[in-house]
Amino acid sequence: MVRGKVVLAYSGGLDTSVAIRWLQERSLDVVALTIDVGQPVNLSDIKEKAQRLGAKAHVVDARREFAEQFVLPALAANAMYEGQYPLSTALARPLIGKHLVAVAQREGASFIAHGCTGKGNDQVRFDLCTTALAPDLTVIAPAREWGMTREEEISYARERGIPVPVSNGSPYSTDENLWGRSIECGVLEDPRIEPPEEVYAWTASPAAAPDAPGTVTIHFESGRPTALQGKSMPIVDLIASLNDLAGRHGVGRIDHVESRVVGIKSREVYECPAATVLMKAHQALEALVLPRDLLEFQRNVAARYATLVYDGLWYTPLREALDAFVGSTQERVTGDVSVKLFKGAATVTGRASPFSLYDHALATYSQGDRFRQSMAEGFIYVWGLPARTWAAAGATTPAKIVKATKRSK
Ligand code: ARG
Repeated sequence: MVRGKVVLAYSGGLDTSVAIRWLQERSLDVVALTIDVGQPVNLSDIKEKAQRLGAKAHVVDARREFAEQFVLPALAANAMYEGQYPLSTALARPLIGKHLVAVAQREGASFIAHGCTGKGNDQVRFDLCTTALAPDLTVIAPAREWGMTREEEISYARERGIPVPVSNGSPYSTDENLWGRSIECGVLEDPRIEPPEEVYAWTASPAAAPDAPGTVTIHFESGRPTALQGKSMPIVDLIASLNDLAGRHGVGRIDHVESRVVGIKSREVYECPAATVLMKAHQALEALVLPRDLLEFQRNVAARYATLVYDGLWYTPLREALDAFVGSTQERVTGDVSVKLFKGAATVTGRASPFSLYDHALATYSQGDRFRQSMAEGFIYVWGLPARTWAAAGATTPAKIVKATKRSK
């Protein structure tokens, strides 16, 4: 006796496969939805697996939508959570959430389900998506409810004939998409220990990377990368090629103790070769074409934007307003950036733009200097006026502070 219909975000892994059966055992008709965000998996195998478990299965290729509507705005905003994490997993959640809602509405389902546990950020992101887009739908998170350990889950699966992938010998939990790969659990839970080489799949070990550096050139049009090595290509292909190119040189490994939304500190390892290179290149181009005050203000926006994405607040007026602001700053972020890739490092080595604010005649210390150095004295006089007035009023100056500290010793 079926009591309702549920659309489940299905990855094909053990957790969500067990979730299919668990939901069915609670008299729900399960529709499994797998979203292609560029994770290297066999989607038809996943679809078949869901069907064999008795679910209706949909697969949606959302790679372009992911890149265009989620990754590019985050790149334009230079969004790096805690200055480290390009938000690869976090950015895909609102996209998946949006599709879950759309399928639920099409299928006449009243429930949405995901495989997240009660300890992570992803549950927050999925749940808040549903709250924002379709508050009538109810979210079910089986893994938050079933209280099974890994081992119990495996025997639950075995008892019900749910295939347990051999890769389940792997102690790591991973999530992958075009923008990066996240790895957690196992030995990574000890933040004192260096991540073993086996956790990495997209990047060569810097020590084993080519001894000769590689160089990539990226062309940006209004903040958006449009060509790689002089070749125009669709954004999905550009990111995928750059993941490959930079990954070969060991670029994009991130090892971070991260502050989760739910208050837990967690050790996270990421591989984000393309994101690492593009973020650096984009910032280098902005440094060339945007004025100082705008760049400084932008850094605050970047931090706020990153936190907002991390916290699952994609579908909010604040995100839309920040996007509008960032969009307005990108008009002249056009040009070429060269990045050298060498044994794990990505270093910007050149930048050029038709909108460059760099004026050689002003900057040079050689022939052709047009900067009127004598004018600097007057500028500094006026610039220093507040300090002079402050000191004249007998206020504490740093020099006096230095003396006072010496005396108190
Ligand atoms: N900590 C990251 C985030 O919250 C990644 C989570 C990845 N999930 C996973 N199953 N490994 O965005």
